[in-house]
Amino acid sequence: MSKTATKRSGNTAQKSDETMLKELFIDELKDIYWAEKHLTKALPKMSKAATSQELANAFQEHLAQTEVQIERIEQVFEILEMTARAKKCEAMEGLVKEAQNVIEEQPKGTMVRDAGLIISGQKVEHYEIAAYGSLVQLAKTMGENEIADILAQTLEEEKQTDQLLTELAVSGINISADNETEE
Ligand SMILES: [Fe+2]
Ligand SMILES: [Fe+2]
Repeated sequence: MSKTATKRSGNTAQKSDETMLKELFIDELKDIYWAEKHLTKALPKMSKAATSQELANAFQEHLAQTEVQIERIEQVFEILEMTARAKKCEAMEGLVKEAQNVIEEQPKGTMVRDAGLIISGQKVEHYEIAAYGSLVQLAKTMGENEIADILAQTLEEEKQTDQLLTELAVSGINISADNETEE
């Protein structure tokens, strides 16, 4: 919680370690910035493709959250006195492609499609949870507590979204999907 950890030794070796960790942090921040922006294009498509209104709403609501999350990242860049820059996130590009495959492969109007979309959504959330969890920890280590607090808010939202998707799956969508047969 304090900066003492990073100030244990004030010599230059310590300082250069700090800079390298900060560079790693910034690199990861650029990655998730790209990922979140990419998601603002994917989530509306996932919402539109969903069969159940509940799932469509969940993706729509997460889109609104994602827009705020992007602003939080920009806030973090500001605190670091940097221009916000994105760096292509190959993982998120791949996860979004997988979601698109679900939409192409699972017939429109089926609950199986929703079950598939939930899996895709949860894979996305888990990537984000890993990314934000790591960023929060790195920020704490660097004594950047304000940044840690900002990113912890997003981390909590990603966890809640993951949880919501689990609930939608187990409360009905998977069961309905289990009753569907191919024509
Ligand atoms: Fe997000
Ligand atoms: Fe998310």
